[in-house]
Amino acid sequence: MANKEIKEVKKVTTNTLQKMKAAGEKISMLTAYDFSFARIIDNAGIDIVLVGDSASNVIAGHETTLPITIDQMIYHASAVIRGVDRCLVVVDLPFGSYQSNSDIALASAIRIMKETGAHSIKIEGGEEVIDSVKRIVSAGIPVMGHLGLTPQSIYKFGTYTVRAKEADEANKLRRDAKLLEKAGCFGVVLEKIPAELAKEVTESLHIPTIGIGAGMHCDGQVLVMHDMLGINTEFRPRFLRQYLNLNEQVTRAVQQYISDVKGKSFPNENEQY
Ligand code: KIV
Repeated sequence: MANKEIKEVKKVTTNTLQKMKAAGEKISMLTAYDFSFARIIDNAGIDIVLVGDSASNVIAGHETTLPITIDQMIYHASAVIRGVDRCLVVVDLPFGSYQSNSDIALASAIRIMKETGAHSIKIEGGEEVIDSVKRIVSAGIPVMGHLGLTPQSIYKFGTYTVRAKEADEANKLRRDAKLLEKAGCFGVVLEKIPAELAKEVTESLHIPTIGIGAGMHCDGQVLVMHDMLGINTEFRPRFLRQYLNLNEQVTRAVQQYISDVKGKSFPNENEQY
């Protein structure tokens, strides 16, 4: 018999999330980009892991999310999938893999699902991507929307400040949220918008909203793992709660290691053969 523990796990599905919203139970979501962290986060009980295109920033060191490719997203998502048993895994469609037309969007979503084993995809935008959302959903692929500060459009916005403060943009966001729900999205990320607008949108939808910098009334919250663990300490927006200062802890551990090697206290007699 295979030497593998048989785990009875109740998996989180899009239906689970719908029920959580209906029951008023908040949804927890974090990003992950590799096997080891995905395993820790899943074992800790997270509901959703997002393989975000923020990998472009926190893993590859790019200034924006634009350079990451679909092949790179597939590499990260495959590793994450190998690390999780329970949570729902959502994978970002990266910039350039869906904007041209709905044929390309569908082909990209199918590649992600087929080559990674992920459970769903996320796409940025509202009305502009509705045809693509409909076709991807029709193909049986769960889709999460993303409105507000959509980082793939950063050069259009020109700044990372709060979106939809003005009436026109707020009205478009209200309309887009409804369109995404009608097109079959199972949830919507609301990024960096006023809390009151997020509340209104959350109350107007049957599907859950997941906020990042969108206040306390969203049905769930998402953070970039590297930000909340304090790996990336330069990024300190108001919405970010930092749960660890891993940067400091890792620095101290590495300095101790260097000192032990140079001082000849590592390895000791018990640490050799
Ligand atoms: O890529 C990402 O990490 C995201 C979150 C900020 C929601 O899209």
